[in-house]
Amino acid sequence: MLFKQQALLRQKLFVLGSLAIGSLLYLVARVGSLDRLQPLCPIDGRFGPRSQDEIPLRALQFKRGLLHEFRKGNATKEQIRLHNLVQQLPKAIIIGVRKGGTRALLEMLNLHPAVVKASQEIHFFDNDENYAKGIEWYRKKMPFSYPQQITIEKSPAYFITEEVPERIYKMNSSIKLLIIVREPTTRAISDYTQVLEGKERKNKTYYKFEKLAIDPNTCEVNTKYKAVRTSIYTKHLERWLKYFPIEQFHIVDGDRLITEPLPELQLVEKFLNLPPRISQYNLYFNATRGFYCLRFNIVFNKCLAGSKGRIHPEVDTSVITKLRKFFHPFNQKFYQITGRTFNWP
Ligand code: A3P
Repeated sequence: MLFKQQALLRQKLFVLGSLAIGSLLYLVARVGSLDRLQPLCPIDGRFGPRSQDEIPLRALQFKRGLLHEFRKGNATKEQIRLHNLVQQLPKAIIIGVRKGGTRALLEMLNLHPAVVKASQEIHFFDNDENYAKGIEWYRKKMPFSYPQQITIEKSPAYFITEEVPERIYKMNSSIKLLIIVREPTTRAISDYTQVLEGKERKNKTYYKFEKLAIDPNTCEVNTKYKAVRTSIYTKHLERWLKYFPIEQFHIVDGDRLITEPLPELQLVEKFLNLPPRISQYNLYFNATRGFYCLRFNIVFNKCLAGSKGRIHPEVDTSVITKLRKFFHPFNQKFYQITGRTFNWP
């Protein structure tokens, strides 16, 4: 009897042991194959209903590791072919506005596993010499990506350059266009600050902002000053609307991108028909920088360069008031056209 019970117990232990070892082997095999297969998996396969926090980590580790190597030119032709990597024309372009936060927007969108950024401003459509090199030249400037990913480039000069809308239309009439704007007077001062810094670097003197923004003869706003003209957003947008319907544009609030980036990025994800993948995990406030910085994964994070977020010079309040009054009607028109209202004074 005792012998029979012991045999039964041994049998049960054997079955349980086999089950445990089997499960363990299955898990090891599965994790191993996932890690091995991940670089080859189609991007869509990674859009399953998984937890928001998990996806960016895994996908971005994968993206940074692999695509970064390709970007650095460390890949052989064979590897490119094996991974089915391509250089694709952009499906979306950040066309402006200069000093609106175009770099921050591009870098933050690049947190999305389905987005690949062109790191440099290509200036293909606004520069006649580049444009004459043809569309293949432009495509070859694009980073390697998986066919399911979308490439985004940013060149803020596009927004204000006369020829650009028609040229982009000729490349792709259904392209998505992103415009990031800030309160126009602040943007103009930011624009001035960048130029001033360039002059100072060359030991050159420069006019004060007040002198450039206000015509000394008329005491009116100087519309010939480029920093002022660029901030008349509606004037530029109207030129674009001759080629593209308003539905193809998405307006990003650049002031909100500074203070509260995630909701702005989520609106862009929606506009680009991307599944929501950028999460609060990917953005953290850096008190020293005074800005949000980017977290790609446990080990890799970065803040934007010091040239972003300069300290603006103090500007005479009467000049600020004059500028704000000047921009007001243009802003109203801009809200009306775009359907997006801002609390600009
Ligand atoms: P300031 O230098 O005036 O502060 P662009 O990239 O189009 O040149 O825009 C630069 C602006 O991006 C900066 O203007 C800064 O305010 C803004 N910006 C938005 N988010 C930022 C971030 N996370 N880090 C640094 N700058 C950011």
